[in-house]
Amino acid sequence: MAKYKPWLVCCFIFAGLISAVALVCLCIVSIVDRGCVGGSFTQAAVSADSLRCSEIGRSMLKQGGSAVDGAIAALLCTSVVNPQSMGIGGGSIFTIRNKKGDVKVYNFRETVPPSFKRDLLSDCPTEFGLTTGSQWIGVPGELRGYEAVHKQYGKLRWAKLFEPTIKLAREGIPLPPFLGNLLKNQIVKAHVEKSSLCEVLCNKNKTVLSTGDILRFPKLAKTMETIAEQGADAFYTGEIGHDLIQDIEAAGGTLKREDLKSFHVRVEDAWTVPLGDVKMHVPPPPAGGPLLAFILRLMKGFPLSPHSLDGDQKIQTYHRYIEAAKFTNGQKRSINDPVFNGRKSADHLIDHSFVNRIRDMISPNRTHNNAYYNNAKPSRDHVGTTHVSVLDKDGLAVSATSTINQLFGGAVYSPRTGIILNNELTDFCGRADNVFAGEQPPSSMAPVILETKSGGLLVIGGSGGSMITSAVALSIINRLWLGMNLKDAIAARIVFVDSNNTVNFEPGFDKSVKDGLGALGHKSGKWKYFMNVVNAVEKENGCIVAVSDSRKMGESAGY
Ligand SMILES: *[C@@H]1O[C@H](CO)[C@@H](O)[C@H](O)[C@H]1NC(C)=O
Ligand SMILES: *[C@@H]1O[C@H](CO)[C@@H](O)[C@H](O)[C@H]1NC(C)=O
Ligand SMILES: *[C@@H]1O[C@H](CO)[C@@H](O)[C@H](O)[C@H]1NC(C)=O
Repeated sequence: MAKYKPWLVCCFIFAGLISAVALVCLCIVSIVDRGCVGGSFTQAAVSADSLRCSEIGRSMLKQGGSAVDGAIAALLCTSVVNPQSMGIGGGSIFTIRNKKGDVKVYNFRETVPPSFKRDLLSDCPTEFGLTTGSQWIGVPGELRGYEAVHKQYGKLRWAKLFEPTIKLAREGIPLPPFLGNLLKNQIVKAHVEKSSLCEVLCNKNKTVLSTGDILRFPKLAKTMETIAEQGADAFYTGEIGHDLIQDIEAAGGTLKREDLKSFHVRVEDAWTVPLGDVKMHVPPPPAGGPLLAFILRLMKGFPLSPHSLDGDQKIQTYHRYIEAAKFTNGQKRSINDPVFNGRKSADHLIDHSFVNRIRDMISPNRTHNNAYYNNAKPSRDHVGTTHVSVLDKDGLAVSATSTINQLFGGAVYSPRTGIILNNELTDFCGRADNVFAGEQPPSSMAPVILETKSGGLLVIGGSGGSMITSAVALSIINRLWLGMNLKDAIAARIVFVDSNNTVNFEPGFDKSVKDGLGALGHKSGKWKYFMNVVNAVEKENGCIVAVSDSRKMGESAGY
């Protein structure tokens, strides 16, 4: 040991003492404010697609509202701020966990109207793109669903949830940059300009609005006012439904008032799936919960740790993920409405021995043709949708994914009511051979809630149509097993295995890993529509972290 001068030793001891005192102080401070670091919250939080809607959700929570009140208000807001993603002409799935740990799924996605076009599937498009046409409109479930969850879990008055959005719709908002960029895209621009949507999204000269232009929905404001006063019945049995049906008829559609009346919200237990020490609650079929559970359970069987991203191990980790995603594509046809297609078609996806058997088929250093993965008949890919995650101060958690299906649904706007209609029935294309009245199309939507043994919660879900499974699965893998914090877990570039099992890398994805995967035989594609968006709220040791995806320029809000 080197010889130190006595005064230097003194200095060391003194410095050591100071550090010890500082450490004790720090500990006391962190126990007092429970160690919640900057940017995290202690009571409640909302992660929606936009700061404006997260804040509206938070304002409901601060006024004594529950997480369900916050989620409904944030979604209503989203129908104005991101009208391409969702609205009261669409449907949603809410996964709700109460303080005791019971988890219910309220599924109010659109259903096939009794008056549907019998040869509907022969109209299915053969290529990726935006699908128009009033035959694709499913019976909207959005408001019946809000009514049901509000009745069960709401604390604020129904009308209160609509107030902020009525004001936004009437007074207008500067067109948000995300929507502005979207409207610049030539395909989207043409889609809007040649449709009835142009009434709200175009200038007087019939060209689309730009970022910063004032976006107003005066008719929608009036419609929401009526619904706020009279309840969901105004839509399903009252005057608004009447007006809406007239507009749909004028657009060549066949939806009837009786179709609206026929809508029922489905309330079910969530499927609870173990992921090691973590329990994950997912919405059952025809939601995408079982597909998400399947890919995560395939991955959980590999020894994953933060080191799985070191050097060449990163290639093997993504190789395994891509193979798991190919097998998941091969299982898409197992997801359908159990009421009409036999109740057990997706049960195997969470069966231990099936998952293990498939995992054993993942080869370490090669990939295979589509038939190997049971994916000889690929489905179609599409994009759209929104997600909001909310956690309130009483421990109620809501994970809600909401949609009108593709961007602006099928571009059918109802001029009398201001409502944009969904084109949800296109979800049957490539995934079903028959369609039944009352059936719900299969979906990728997977609003989920995870809980750890120590009481931690992760409320998470995503949007982006076919990309939902990849976006949410990779965020969860990054967070749970690869050592990332929530923000990094969501921000990490993804790989999307499309329905043809072609591997598409999000711009910015690690080039050396991409090259390594190419050497293993993965075919890489040129997917241009990385509209994957994940919004999540997590609570651990009393601290709440909320993240809205920056891909959609989102920001969360909490207190
Ligand atoms: C349409 O009007 C907007 C705003 O008034 C203007 O910026 C745009 O250049 C016009 N486009 C055409 C093609 O006239
Ligand atoms: C793949 O790995 C196996 C053993 O894990 C080995 O026998 C085989 O030669 C490898 N194939 C290639 C193409 O590297
Ligand atoms: C998948 O393949 C089909 C037929 O080869 C093609 O029409 C479609 O565009 C492909 N989809 C994607 C996402 O590449």
